[in-house]
Amino acid sequence: MKPADNLDPSGRSPKDLTGFESASPNASVDLGNLPVVVAISGGSGAAYAKRLLQVLGRSKRDVHLVISSAGAQVVAQEFGIALDLKKPDLATFLELSADQLSRIHYHASDNYFCPIASGSFRTAGMVICPCSGSTLSAVAHGNSANLIQRAAEVHLKERRKLVLVPRETPLSRVALKNMLEAHDAGATILPASPGWYHGVQTFDDLFDFVVGRILDQLQIDNGLINRWGE
Ligand SMILES: Cc1cc2nc3c(=O)[nH]c(=O)nc-3n(C[C@H](O)[C@H](O)[C@H](O)COP(=O)(O)O)c2cc1C
Repeated sequence: MKPADNLDPSGRSPKDLTGFESASPNASVDLGNLPVVVAISGGSGAAYAKRLLQVLGRSKRDVHLVISSAGAQVVAQEFGIALDLKKPDLATFLELSADQLSRIHYHASDNYFCPIASGSFRTAGMVICPCSGSTLSAVAHGNSANLIQRAAEVHLKERRKLVLVPRETPLSRVALKNMLEAHDAGATILPASPGWYHGVQTFDDLFDFVVGRILDQLQIDNGLINRWGE
């Protein structure tokens, strides 16, 4: 086989990229061991992403993380933390231990030579949290101009779980149409819109409501939610 036939532009073999030996698409996969992709785009509400990453970081899950430039601006505005997107200080932002952080694999948003740019890399799903209106639009229309949008496109084409967490109000007709397009393409639209019926005492209760519902979509056990009727 010529190098050009090696499927991946990085020149690495599929095994190098995925960690899996050329498994057939129908091979049985333990979703519980597969990594989760998390993207932070430039919607307000970076605290939801922080809480999501904390919960995943404390689990045994590997997480592949991408942050857009606008996402970093929101983190700066909302947390006063300037993230260097080449090598962000995730310890300061996420307040996780070195061991927990070791399971979070960060990728720059222009790096297409990383596993999550390819459908051959298997995942349990992807969450874009928060999902800005422009990232929503790109996902809805398959107009992938960065790694977040590419990874989302991959999740749709591979028919894997893709959860979009928009934060905008009011919603324009354009945004509503984009949500419907993304929904009909297979995404789950899960607005950052916490319920207030579960005995809310703190902001954390509100974050946990949204993060718990996100993790439910990925079928990841979490003790974050007081479930109605239980
Ligand atoms: C502090 C701040 C808050 C923002 N809040 C929102 C928001 O809640 N929802 C939204 O769709 N865009 C919001 N924006 C605008 C987006 O960041 C902007 O449209 C950007 O182009 C999104 O790029 P991205 O999708 O690549 O992250 C905000 C921007 C900043 C700087």
